[in-house]
Amino acid sequence: MISQLPKQYQYLQADIDELNELLHKLFLATDQTVQTPIINLLHAGGKRIRPLLCIICSRCSPNRSNEVLIIAAVLEMIHMASIIHDDVIDHAVLRRGEPTVHYTYNPQIAIQVGDYLFSYALEIATQLEDKTIHRRLATTLTWLVKGELAQLNTRYQIDQSVKNYFMKIRNKTARLIATCCEVGAKLNQAPPSLQNQLANFGYYLGMSYQIKDDLLDFSDYHQTGKDSKTDLLEGYLTLPTLLALSDKTIYNQVHKLFNQGSSRAGSDDREIIHLIKQSGAIEQANQVSHWYLMRALKVGRSLPDFPEKPLLLQMAAGLAKRTH
Ligand code: FPP
Ligand code: MG
Repeated sequence: MISQLPKQYQYLQADIDELNELLHKLFLATDQTVQTPIINLLHAGGKRIRPLLCIICSRCSPNRSNEVLIIAAVLEMIHMASIIHDDVIDHAVLRRGEPTVHYTYNPQIAIQVGDYLFSYALEIATQLEDKTIHRRLATTLTWLVKGELAQLNTRYQIDQSVKNYFMKIRNKTARLIATCCEVGAKLNQAPPSLQNQLANFGYYLGMSYQIKDDLLDFSDYHQTGKDSKTDLLEGYLTLPTLLALSDKTIYNQVHKLFNQGSSRAGSDDREIIHLIKQSGAIEQANQVSHWYLMRALKVGRSLPDFPEKPLLLQMAAGLAKRTH
């Protein structure tokens, strides 16, 4: 994400390098079958948003626990496991600009790689002393799966509320980002009120981030390094489409598409996407993402000062404006 750290934050580069080295070292210790796909996914890039947020937020306190990098690596591993599984569910062909694990190998291997990475992450997490961190991780993961399950259970359903959409993205994305912001601070013994503030910041940022992600699905794939225009075609209603459904023509077209389910012919795809883009719903969804960003920045600005606070705010603003 932060491709180039501003000059005054160059010292954080050592942490980022150490994080990447730690991940690489951990992955070299995995079984042969899973090692290549995991290392390929690591090297394909990725913005490392979750571990970076954890590292930056941990600096809200003057204490320096050497467990911060461990939890940061665990958070990235959990994220990697979840996207490997997600790409199987979504039949996605591209991730981080490279062919997905299930596409390169097969879905069975991809599920095993995801399971391996997930359980390995939890094994690494046992190195952390603080039991409350284990509890926070466990609840976050339960919510993550609940969010993904709710998404699957409402697949090809046209009559869904915006409230329901918010609930799903809160669980599958925002809670994990909130946890990333909270746990680094917790490890460095920041006061509980500050941990809560950071969790709130992460929650609002996560909501803004997922809405932006859903908006980027309407853009071209070469921008994002993943498949585009697949949410709707795979039967998932995200905010832009949900808002566009107030237009009768769009509603009827989406209704027809969802009725065909996975057996659809594909001929009307371009037209529906075009209609949604023309409807003003993209701009409206952007405004909602922006609203959440403003809430995140408001909480962020109210944090007590620490040297990395401006970087945190800058990163949040950058994430909301991202094009990939
Ligand atoms: C990406 O969403 C996916 C997630 C945010 C979570 C996926 C979670 C699971 C599959 C269950 C958890 C599994 C484990 C092993 C922890 P998206 O499809 O909206 O975004 P995308 O455009 O990046 O695919
Ligand atoms: Mg997906």
